[in-house]
Amino acid sequence: MLRSLKKRRFGNANAFISLSRQVEHPWWFCSYTLERMTNDDVLYVTKESAEWWRQAVIYQIYPRSFADGNGDGMGDLQGVTQRLESLQELGIDAIWFSPFFKSPQKDAGYDVSDYKDIDPLFGTLADFDALLARAHSLGLRIIVDLVPNHTSDQHEWFKAAVAAGKGSPERDMYIFRDGKGWFGRKEPNNWPSVFGGSTWTRITEPNGKKGQWYLHIFDSSQPDLNWRNPIVRDEFDKVLQFWLDRGVDGFRIDVAHGMIKRDGLPDTKQMSTEMGGVKPEGEMTIEELEIANPYWGQPEVHEINRRWRKIIDSYKDRAMAAEAWIGGPLERMARWVRPDEYNQTFNFGYMFAGWTKEAQVKSINDSFKAFGAVGAPSTWVLSNHDTIRHVTRYGMVGELPQGDGIGPEYEQPDEALGLRKGRANTAFMLGLPGGAYIYQGEELGLPEHTTLEGKYRQDPTYFRTKGKRVGRDGCRVPLPWEAGANESNGFSSTGASWLPQPSGYKTYARDVQRGVPGSTLELYKRLLKVRKDLGLGAGDFRWASELTDDESLAFVNKGVAVIANFGSTPVQLPAGEVLVTTQHDLTAEHELQQDQVAWIKLA
Ligand code: NOJ
Repeated sequence: MLRSLKKRRFGNANAFISLSRQVEHPWWFCSYTLERMTNDDVLYVTKESAEWWRQAVIYQIYPRSFADGNGDGMGDLQGVTQRLESLQELGIDAIWFSPFFKSPQKDAGYDVSDYKDIDPLFGTLADFDALLARAHSLGLRIIVDLVPNHTSDQHEWFKAAVAAGKGSPERDMYIFRDGKGWFGRKEPNNWPSVFGGSTWTRITEPNGKKGQWYLHIFDSSQPDLNWRNPIVRDEFDKVLQFWLDRGVDGFRIDVAHGMIKRDGLPDTKQMSTEMGGVKPEGEMTIEELEIANPYWGQPEVHEINRRWRKIIDSYKDRAMAAEAWIGGPLERMARWVRPDEYNQTFNFGYMFAGWTKEAQVKSINDSFKAFGAVGAPSTWVLSNHDTIRHVTRYGMVGELPQGDGIGPEYEQPDEALGLRKGRANTAFMLGLPGGAYIYQGEELGLPEHTTLEGKYRQDPTYFRTKGKRVGRDGCRVPLPWEAGANESNGFSSTGASWLPQPSGYKTYARDVQRGVPGSTLELYKRLLKVRKDLGLGAGDFRWASELTDDESLAFVNKGVAVIANFGSTPVQLPAGEVLVTTQHDLTAEHELQQDQVAWIKLA
């Protein structure tokens, strides 16, 4: 049975203002008009922008699982270079690489031991340079993943910190504290790790005795850096410059909301409601959230954002995107993308909004309002390497918390239903103005691996919760390229694969979809082509209730109506040309069926 858990709450139901308003940013290339017209109509306008990231479609590569160039079963940079043309053909603008830096791989590379080198698993700096040059020659930009909140415990800085002893400048690079209670045996505070268990681990001091504790918001192999220490800040300036000088187009910044911990490291607190119960996150004020979660979204983190934006802007055409899983109203997340902070932030509210009419309306309205108010483009995203793939989420019976996955003993999702809804949501999303993210494999409609046995699992969540939460491996399984080429469907030349593919992956392989009308791959290609040709990423937006009934939803972007049918009654399409649709063979004379989307060039 799937555990049914409370929905994460993002956004604020009462957030709308009732007056029309206009926000202008004349110092930028584009201006934004944001108006509230009726209860569910928002008008949002952007002009064509020279800032590529405002409308870019960015494809996430998870290097372990994209393509293996040397046959060892682990994806690598040469493998990516060999397959780059298929991404150009897909029609994306940029690639974001999850980390490939030197790392003991305790959290699949999010535990970095050298920020300025490539892990031998993935190749060399020369391989990276070759990849970058090839990508640029194909018109694809490259974004790399910087992990500044924590290092690996094998990083030289951490080894030096342990060796140098209490009170040393080396130890001040991290967050070490004495324990509480008898002989400091108890953790310094009550903070829980995101991966389960405590955030504190006790070290053995150089004199062989049990000593201080160090903080790790994630795994014990990922000690948190002390971002109040100016040396840490200076070191990371150099890391940014190192990659920018090498020619990367930007960064995705890991845990962009976690670097500053509240002064004094106070215990986390449960906020109580007037009635004495526990206040849900969605009902807390921003200040209450900062107190309740003393390691997320502390105000001083914005100083770091601003410092980095100056570096980014000192180079031409670069950008940075924040990974900030921040609770509370979307206005809070929008603080990360004020004009002198990040260029983009992942819209996790949209990721988990769900495929219902009401949820889409609310999330899209909230997004345009919150991001528009600070002059930032909204981003749109449905899947990534930390989340159950959206085609699988939409076929599930219950819900799981973000960061968890599905195991063989769980009730299995409905694959066909999930795929139908997932394709529909993608087609709806890609019609929206703003930036969009695609996670590798979703262009194939690839489902989560939901029957992966425990013996293959690698996510620290699985081990830290003793298997209670199976973790994220199911969305990280290597991609199928050529059906039946070998055991890994062409992921590697030998058939080796660091996680085994489920038998069904063969039917999703790229070669069986390429050129096949109605396939998910051809759908994505068409969506991206029309989006680019008509400039919809930098478009204008209005809800078009005149085109729909109670169970359907439509908006118009640059004269293109994007219509979704959520109900079982078919919907008549407006007059015009069907530009792209999830419903194979649909023409203007047909009706749009349930969980199908069509883009119509209005007559
Ligand atoms: C967020 C990353 O996306 C995730 O994969 C990682 O485990 C944590 N940050 C810790 O770095």
